[in-house]
Amino acid sequence: MINLSNIFPKINSTKPSHQSGATANPWQIAEEDFPVAGTTTDKLKFLLNYAVLAPSSHNTQPWLFKIVDDGVELYADQTRALPIADPDRRELTISCGAALFHLRIAMHHFGYRDVVEILPEQNNPNLLARICLGSKRVVKQEENFMFRAISRRCTNRLSFKDCQLPTSLQSELESACCSEGNYLQIMTQIVPEASRQAVISLIAEGDRLQMADPLFRQELAQWIHPSSSHDGIPVHAQGINKQLDSLAPLISFAIRSFDLGKTQAAKDCQLAIQAPVLMLISSNGDRTQDWLATGEALAHLLLRARVDDVWASFFNQPLQIPQLRSRLQALFPDNGYPQILLRLGYATETESTPRRAANEVISSEL
Ligand SMILES: Cc1cc2nc3c(=O)[nH]c(=O)nc-3n(C[C@H](O)[C@H](O)[C@H](O)COP(=O)(O)O)c2cc1C
Repeated sequence: MINLSNIFPKINSTKPSHQSGATANPWQIAEEDFPVAGTTTDKLKFLLNYAVLAPSSHNTQPWLFKIVDDGVELYADQTRALPIADPDRRELTISCGAALFHLRIAMHHFGYRDVVEILPEQNNPNLLARICLGSKRVVKQEENFMFRAISRRCTNRLSFKDCQLPTSLQSELESACCSEGNYLQIMTQIVPEASRQAVISLIAEGDRLQMADPLFRQELAQWIHPSSSHDGIPVHAQGINKQLDSLAPLISFAIRSFDLGKTQAAKDCQLAIQAPVLMLISSNGDRTQDWLATGEALAHLLLRARVDDVWASFFNQPLQIPQLRSRLQALFPDNGYPQILLRLGYATETESTPRRAANEVISSEL
């Protein structure tokens, strides 16, 4: 995605701040308000506040939920698809998988087992999962840590500090996700210099190809929103001073109108070279269930990283262009299908991005 800080001033350090909009804002949810004595429906509605804080491509939040009996159904919201960047709905499904993981971690934190059925109805492909509130269980300390990391996570697109991650944490991050679902996820740290160089070249090529495509730029521009909106990417997420928030329409116009691919490629190369860790999540299949598991693995990795104050940012451009994705796959022939490319490291804090309220994504008509 284009980094607008190339053309607009950078912000300095800011504390994470939450949107106005009071109670409807899921970032402001307080765990003390969990309805211990409420009905299962009350509890599930409360828990969905954590699901919607998951990351999603272009912050489209492409999920819908339906409360059923003692559980909740997770649906793909195809009206929020990105036909140019994500024609197969691969990233849309990964985003829903991340929301699923947030929901499961929240259930665990409040002392419940989760009972999950993936793709429970063959003739209803938009129904991705059915998740029931299971019996009571003892909460593991690490689950509490990851739960608390939900409100401390956001994508951090600033440059990372020149500071390595401890080796023990690197291996924990690598193994954090392998256990998600029955679908194997392979976390590869891109270590040998030759592989790093090859991956960085693909990122740069991805930037140039995407930004040369007016349709890609138009789609991206449609999701640049002021931070008062409940979805899309606000300008501050790109490291631009929040006072320039009202310029979102102008920035959107600039993206739609000009090919900034070369500048973007140079910037991303620099960010990737500086990154202490580049990490690729791959899966051994490339079907809906593999994408959902990838989303869960991704969310697990991002939350585990935040427990130790590590930030992450995405370089998914080579994965969004079929010929570049094949070349990335050829670089790691033993890993199956590449799904998500990340950089990880320490950085100055950034602010969270807007979310729709949980009740905006709960529907009884699905
Ligand atoms: C599947 C997926 C792909 C993404 N790809 C990119 C990307 O290529 N570039 C980028 O800057 N952000 C990418 N993101 C991050 C989203 O833009 C980000 O999650 C969204 O704007 C919400 O912001 P938050 O992560 O700070 O909550 C991706 C997120 C997901 C889940």
